[in-house]
Amino acid sequence: MNLLVTGGAGYIGSHTCVLLLEAGHDVTVLDNLCNSSAIALDRVQQLAGKPLRFIEGDVRNRDDLDKAFAGGIDAVIHFAALKAVGESCAQPLDYFDNNIGGTIGLMQAMEQHGVDRLVFSSSATVYGQADTVPVKEDAPLRVTNPYGRTKLVMEQLIQDWCTARPSVSAVLLRYFNPVGAHPSGKIGENPRGEPNNLMPYVAQVAAGVRPFLRVFGNDYPTPDGTGIRDYLHVMDLAEAHAKALEYTVARTGCDVFNLGTGRGYSVLEMVAAFERASGRAVPCEIQPRRQGDIAELTADPSRARNVLGWEARYDLDAMCGDAWWWQSMESCDLVSPESQPGTMVTTLCRTAQARHPGEGGDPRPSGKPILNVDDQPSAVEKRLPPSRKCFTTAKPVNDVAEDRG
Ligand code: NAD
Ligand code: UFG
Repeated sequence: MNLLVTGGAGYIGSHTCVLLLEAGHDVTVLDNLCNSSAIALDRVQQLAGKPLRFIEGDVRNRDDLDKAFAGGIDAVIHFAALKAVGESCAQPLDYFDNNIGGTIGLMQAMEQHGVDRLVFSSSATVYGQADTVPVKEDAPLRVTNPYGRTKLVMEQLIQDWCTARPSVSAVLLRYFNPVGAHPSGKIGENPRGEPNNLMPYVAQVAAGVRPFLRVFGNDYPTPDGTGIRDYLHVMDLAEAHAKALEYTVARTGCDVFNLGTGRGYSVLEMVAAFERASGRAVPCEIQPRRQGDIAELTADPSRARNVLGWEARYDLDAMCGDAWWWQSMESCDLVSPESQPGTMVTTLCRTAQARHPGEGGDPRPSGKPILNVDDQPSAVEKRLPPSRKCFTTAKPVNDVAEDRG
């Protein structure tokens, strides 16, 4: 198919483009690079061994959209959006304009160019504080911030469009917590400034870029008191888009799917898994709860399995291992030829390369079943000190600065 991928230079979009190119599709990316770099697209093409068409432009700009649709497009995957929860609270109009305005403009352009297949990036944020977990797609929708509101409104607009245009086929994908990176370490999540999401923060602590992880609350009604989320590997998420595309070909109307593993991990379980994957200690400091956080949110992904034929395959060790490899490769990119052995960055690269012999290849058989992280302690884990440095503080947390996703 000829595919238009909006936001294709971003974290999830770039991983999805690799799989789409590898599957033989022709890909046009429309991205204004407001939260990404064209370098990611160079790497996408290297990884897939196939070129894509890149239009640096904005989904709110009609000329840019017309350029993107020129030559014929069969389906659109719409990633382009602003995604920082805290920023959306401070600048809600920017979020309404970019996310909602951009989606309306995109649907208008699709209609004018006769394109009626759409896969849309939604979020578990539309469930807000769910009454019960795991959540099914028909759970009540209640958003708690302007970013979440844009996702809910965009879902509703797409549903209304499908009702008005019976030839249109749309799939709304509600992502839970995407983490990890392409197993090559060439592309991954690259947050600007201090990360607000757990996994990139943990990776930076393991790399020595930040001194410790602030654990936001250990008094939740969960087994270890820390928040539980449904983390899924970004490569699994990419795969789900390919399945959703197939689905739009087979039927019309609007359908919605949760994308998660169905398995939740606490903050401390994530830290332990990352320590195993990296062989690095991740010091933690218990801090007060982050405003707006919930105790637990996990997906019931059975609908995606039964209807789309999609299921997450990568386990937590793969999520952490690939995130660490990406973090390490990023640091390696910064190493100058003069770097001396023994410096922090050089040591970091050696650790990563030991885990990933033959740089660039995937040392892991993909498709491992999801395992309990505690099932098989690795050699690395056995070398770690018996307890992490963990202490409490009464310092208040300035929470909502840059919560992304
Ligand atoms: P990202 O910021 O890495 O990628 C988004 C891309 O869209 C960026 O390359 C950005 O430059 C581009 N973009 C933004 N506004 C644009 C515009 N007006 N015109 C053209 N390009 C524009 O984010 P991501 O993590 O890859 O997220 C992709 C999608 O998935 C977003 O819609 C996001 O809301 C959604 N989502 C992400 C998460 C997560 O945790 N990462 C969770 C749930 C949903
Ligand atoms: N956490 C910490 N310390 C940190 C960062 C996070 O303890 O430095 C904790 C949080 O309190 C939470 C868990 O780690 O318990 C996960 O937090 P994230 O910020 O990584 O993810 P959230 O589930 O809070 O939110 C993310 C996006 C939302 C999106 C949601 C579902 O930021 O926008 O995933 O997709 F709605």
